[in-house]
Amino acid sequence: MVDVLKKEDILSRFVQVNDNDPKYLRDIILNFILAGKDPIAISMSWFIYMLCKHPEIQDKVAKEIIEATNVNEEITDVADFAARVSEGTTDKMQYLHAALTETIRLYPALPVDSKVCFSDDVLPDGCNVNKGDVVAYMPYAMGRMKFIWGDDALEFKPERWLDQDGCFHQESPFKFTAFQAGPRTCLGRDFAFRQLKIISSVLLGCFVFKLNNENKVLSYRTSINIHVDGPLQVSVSRRSGFQNP
Ligand code: HEM
Repeated sequence: MVDVLKKEDILSRFVQVNDNDPKYLRDIILNFILAGKDPIAISMSWFIYMLCKHPEIQDKVAKEIIEATNVNEEITDVADFAARVSEGTTDKMQYLHAALTETIRLYPALPVDSKVCFSDDVLPDGCNVNKGDVVAYMPYAMGRMKFIWGDDALEFKPERWLDQDGCFHQESPFKFTAFQAGPRTCLGRDFAFRQLKIISSVLLGCFVFKLNNENKVLSYRTSINIHVDGPLQVSVSRRSGFQNP
């Protein structure tokens, strides 16, 4: 316990406040594993798919990655390149952040989020709900609504997330609902973007992705998460030609 008290990682912090309840700790760990693993894998699949469908955006993302990592020579070693990707470099990747967010707007890992009413209540719009009723909101539908996002709601446009200086600007979580809003908002949101940006920078800094069948339009498979339906078959080649001067 003394050693644990010295540690600052998230599990140690939960141990500090709940050291007598192994079931609680087990549930917390499971929650983090389940909540943290699948949404990242799913978002990466849709992101690669969107970049294959929009090669000009893939080039723009890659150019920003190469500039931020300050690579001056042909990339020959993925591990060497990965070593250049730090918190400082990913913070510079505003267009990448925008392109990932745009992917999650259109393909939120949790497409429907439901809750069971704990007690009788009245929703802010005056609608009555009774204890035991199920209430759901749909980030998938909300992410595609024209009255929320404008006439171009169905287009993949990372630019909608950038201000005039090219910096990412956040939308209200009540508008961009993929991570929930209010007290039960996703605890791993910043961590998710950190992971997605690291994985994307290494993959897109080093390689070009193309769909094996460029005409194929992928659909989704419904479960708790929004999986790509069927395999996402891509061919991968070494990226070249983007070195900084
Ligand atoms: C693109 C990636 C992600 C998306 C779209 C996402 C989305 C969400 C959503 C919608 C919820 C709310 C569920 C509810 O209503 O109860 C949630 C909760 C949660 N998420 Fe994420 N998530 C992502 C990544 C992550 C990661 C990487 C972690 C952790 C490492 C994480 C940890 C959690 C936890 C612990 C909760 C539960 C919060 C609570 O019950 O109060 N998430 N996430």
